[in-house]
Amino acid sequence: MDRELLDRLGEMHRDPYPHYERARQTDGLVRVDELDAWLVARDADVREVLGRPEAFSSANALKPDVLPSPAALAVLAGGFPDRPHVVVSDGDLHRRLREPLVRGLSPARVAAVAPYIAERAAALVGEFAGQGSVELMSAYARRLPGEVIGRVVGLDPADVPAVVEGGQRFLELVFLPLPEEEQVAAAEAVVRMQHLLDGYARDRRARPREDLCTDIVVDVAGEGTAELTLDQRHETVSHLVNLLLAGHLTTTGLIGTTVLHLLRHPAQWELLCKEPDRVPAAVEEAARYDTALQGFRRVTTCPVNLSGTELPAGADVFVSFGAANRDAAAHARPDEFDITRAPGRHLSFGVGAHACVGKGLAREQVQATLRELTSRLPSLRLAGDRPVTMLPMVLRSPQELHLTW
Ligand code: HEM
Repeated sequence: MDRELLDRLGEMHRDPYPHYERARQTDGLVRVDELDAWLVARDADVREVLGRPEAFSSANALKPDVLPSPAALAVLAGGFPDRPHVVVSDGDLHRRLREPLVRGLSPARVAAVAPYIAERAAALVGEFAGQGSVELMSAYARRLPGEVIGRVVGLDPADVPAVVEGGQRFLELVFLPLPEEEQVAAAEAVVRMQHLLDGYARDRRARPREDLCTDIVVDVAGEGTAELTLDQRHETVSHLVNLLLAGHLTTTGLIGTTVLHLLRHPAQWELLCKEPDRVPAAVEEAARYDTALQGFRRVTTCPVNLSGTELPAGADVFVSFGAANRDAAAHARPDEFDITRAPGRHLSFGVGAHACVGKGLAREQVQATLRELTSRLPSLRLAGDRPVTMLPMVLRSPQELHLTW
């Protein structure tokens, strides 16, 4: 994609909602040059695409907006090649790759990690509670989710910052038009993360433990302690990288946008401080109103008619969870943020074969965050002199969130 189109795409991501509204009002599907895809924006159409994985393949779900430069690609070549992982696979392979994640992130596993989440949320808030102001994204929202998914996967807490850094740099490398030297630095961070995770894979093969890393190694290589082949190491690293990225970047975004919208609506923040039982409903409303993952792609495997538009085989569609969540046909007063609304069926965690396996873990973290902030810092407000800018990419998150109390 050329630079001008990428800049326009970035602007669209910073405020996608007017684009979604136009698409929902237009008959059929709208082709969007910036996305290089057909935009699926109505609730019913999004559900149809997600419900027909045989006609809408996930092979291109994570298609990058930017192709890294030759120098960055040379650095990446020193790491681990991308192998099919759960997000971009279909059919039997997808079912096989998904299975250990469903087990590893089951409601019982989430319940077991909930005390750790509460403890870390309290400790991180405790680090800044006495200061009177904070930049929440760096002090909290980019820290808690990495620590939590690190714990579930079985990482040493000392290794979590390198994994969070690698995930963030990976995202920037494929979604932002970075200058050459930043691309190379980003690629180096990605490769460091891959080698670190390869070390975990080999260690768990030799010394299995009760953690998700061990489950994934067993899924890839079967039971036993025989050394992993190079191919098995590649597959395991790809699986782990994808899980870790899916597990922390999205949750970081939702923590940021949830706090942002609550503080932009001070009466609702006050209500939540008085009535903390409303925390789960507040999280659902924040997820509906401004979801962390605005959309993923699908590619048609055969000619399909969607909403009256004839799509040939091989057509790219951008399935927008964020647009569906603002569809008046599915949600009353869709553009109003209202934590007192009866929770509806939003699509923030997807639906169908690829529905989010980590939604329980994500909800637990955002809820713990709100319980902590409402009880300890009820006078929290946005720092009036610092306008909030959203990241210019499909992952929706404030770049920085300056708060005072
Ligand atoms: C606020 C946080 C989160 C949001 C908004 C979110 C959203 C989503 C969505 C919309 C999908 C469906 C993608 C598609 O249909 O192609 C998805 C899939 C997935 N999510 Fe999440 N997610 C979040 C947190 C997490 C967490 C915490 C984890 C892991 C611990 C996780 C792991 C995954 C995985 C592995 C998939 C792929 C499932 C598959 O392809 O079968 N997510 N997520």
